[in-house]
Amino acid sequence: MARILDGSDPHAIATAAAALCAGELVAFATETVYGLGADALNERAVAQVFAVKNRPRFDPLIVHLPDTESALQYARDVDSRALALAERFWPGPLTLVLQKKPIVPDLVTAGLDSVALRVPAHPVALALLRAVERPIAAPSANPFGYVSPTTAMHVQELLGDKIQFILDGGPCAVGVESTVCALTEKDAVILRPGGVTVEEIEVMIGPVQLASSTQADSRSPGTLLQHYSPRVVLQLLPAGASIPRPSAGERVGLVLFADRPVEPGNAAVEFLSEHGDFVEAAANLFAVLRRLDDLGLDLVVIESVPEHGLGRAIMDRLRRAAAR
Ligand code: TXA
Ligand code: MG
Repeated sequence: MARILDGSDPHAIATAAAALCAGELVAFATETVYGLGADALNERAVAQVFAVKNRPRFDPLIVHLPDTESALQYARDVDSRALALAERFWPGPLTLVLQKKPIVPDLVTAGLDSVALRVPAHPVALALLRAVERPIAAPSANPFGYVSPTTAMHVQELLGDKIQFILDGGPCAVGVESTVCALTEKDAVILRPGGVTVEEIEVMIGPVQLASSTQADSRSPGTLLQHYSPRVVLQLLPAGASIPRPSAGERVGLVLFADRPVEPGNAAVEFLSEHGDFVEAAANLFAVLRRLDDLGLDLVVIESVPEHGLGRAIMDRLRRAAAR
């Protein structure tokens, strides 16, 4: 079992920072999901992240820093788009993929010539990053391919036997991962929709391309079709489709976008948000999937959410979770 440390306690921050400096792994709260952190400049520590997550080596990690200035130290050819996005959205749920400086180990970037950088907005993450005074590589703190953790207890259940410390910062307010935006080519590309919406980004830098969410994209090795998957079989209903009736003896869980009455017959019914609010739905998404996954159901049926704003990130996660 890992020790769950209270992230609001300065002693806990110091303990976690010392562990990271010593090359150990620490899971910590961010505003998106919990991360599994390692000193990004320590290759042994980074290798340990892949081992603990069972993550394929080819999948690069996001490097976390406490402010824009220290983040951009690891990038070269930083252009006005990067500066505008950093200024507007950092700290926050945006990851920028930029040309990397040689100091960033190949293991972190999976040999790519680019590096993913993020300044998280959670006070616990920021306190930790300031205390360690080095870049922290952190994927979501879950075994590869599984639903990302949004509470310290989720991390404990998933990885508690493999790590020493979890820095608790409460449930994650955003609940889906950061938006990954690559600026390494002429056109900006959203490699992963996330906590900052495409619309918000386009206000700052004009039209962007969207990587396909139904196809793996070679520009972002992490955009595997099947990802974020609970063990139970998920069926994502097309927008506007009516809810199927479970067949006799079949134990089905139903996930609705907003709370509303449904016909009886489902073994469990969950809604992502009481009133169909995207922010609340994103924050609840992974916890809902996890709860249903623990019930040993035959099937979980999920209705689609409207695909704009944060709905895009939610649908991206649902498509990947439902892919087999
Ligand atoms: O919200 C988040 O981003 C969380 C928290 C902990 O910060 N982290 C997270 O990391 O979601 P992870 O490892 O689960 O996802 C990283 C994503 C992957 O899709 C990966 O392929 C992409 O970022 N990525 C990382 N470096 C890249 C690079 N150099 N070029 C393209 N994509 C990259
Ligand atoms: Mg992940």
